[in-house]
Amino acid sequence: MQGKRILLIVGGGIAAYKSCELVRLIRREGGAVTCVLTAGATHFVTPMTLAALSENPVHTTLWDLDAEAKMGHIQLSRSADLVVVCPATADLMAKMAAGIADDLATTLLLATDKPVLAVPAMNVRMWQHAATRRNVASLRGDGVEVLEPDAGPMACGEFGPGRLPEPTAILAAITATLGGQAKPLAGRHVLVTAGPTHEPIDPVRYIANRSSGRQGFAIAEAAARAGARVTLVAGPVSLPTPAGVTRIDVETARDMAAAVDAALPADAAIMVAAVADWRVAAEAGQKLKKDGSGVIPPLTLTENPDILARLARAPNRPRLLVGFAAETENVVPHAEAKLARKGADWIVANDVSGDVMGGTRNTVHIVRATGVESLPEMPKDAVAAALIERISDALA
Ligand code: C5P
Repeated sequence: MQGKRILLIVGGGIAAYKSCELVRLIRREGGAVTCVLTAGATHFVTPMTLAALSENPVHTTLWDLDAEAKMGHIQLSRSADLVVVCPATADLMAKMAAGIADDLATTLLLATDKPVLAVPAMNVRMWQHAATRRNVASLRGDGVEVLEPDAGPMACGEFGPGRLPEPTAILAAITATLGGQAKPLAGRHVLVTAGPTHEPIDPVRYIANRSSGRQGFAIAEAAARAGARVTLVAGPVSLPTPAGVTRIDVETARDMAAAVDAALPADAAIMVAAVADWRVAAEAGQKLKKDGSGVIPPLTLTENPDILARLARAPNRPRLLVGFAAETENVVPHAEAKLARKGADWIVANDVSGDVMGGTRNTVHIVRATGVESLPEMPKDAVAAALIERISDALA
């Protein structure tokens, strides 16, 4: 960070107050900061605050005669090593994605030839809105690094993803970007299965489980960020497709097995899906009726293909095969047994006796033939990042 120049564009959202702390952190690490505020941002933090913290003039308008006489906005956008947009509001990202330049901030963003890091913060529904999903995807496609917001309680009283990451985490991202982003999985194909499967009983009923797909989706996203080509075979879940990931939606275990086969070859396969072990032997063609006779229809089950075990023995077996083991007791011993039985290289064991299934946090143990590595409880995206780091090392 020493001697690096950051152009910090502050958007108009309640999280703008955290940009003050970010300026302090960057300066403490030896970086220099020049701040630009949108008109909205000036309602949340004052130019005076940021000028005092950055010890640099703060810019708020395109119509500054003195500055513009020297081509101010172009100069501002070019003299930085990195442009950071924090907080990046839904509106600001929409303008960036569309190439709109109707104020100083958006003009700088369009004129810059420097890397841009956007740190979103907004209401959870705004973050999940299809328009924002689209804008984030197109910004990432344009080479803008868009960080994932944190999940948790928000200033607006709602709960979910959309909170600005902690300033220390933003500082870490800035340092990583300035140091040149590592893409350790560039050129690799990573296959991920996620979510539950639905096994039909009749045209309207099915057997399912509580898997939300969150952990698998987070792994697919982390793999894509690490530069991999990612195929995500997803059971029925209501989650947005992570940026840069090819998603194939399936319903049953047999559909999932076929989609996995079709996606091969892959360098690594991470089988996170909670695949139903059994399906109904003979699916009824019509809805089963309660006819008043008191006779209960018998449900005879038959075993589903074990996708992971089959893949372990396939001629085109991925070089690294990772299975998951959701257990409610004896987590590690069961996973050790599963490692051998399934022929996987690693089993990631997690205790699902609490509210892991459907929740946002996870505690995992990575079981390898050489030993067990236990990670502390953390958010599912942090588990994903830790796994992808280890997978990158294993494939290197
Ligand atoms: O045997 P169990 O279901 O506990 O094994 C879990 C692991 O095996 C997970 O990685 C899961 O995705 C995979 N699996 C599979 N096909 C099945 C059952 C489980 O790929 N039919």
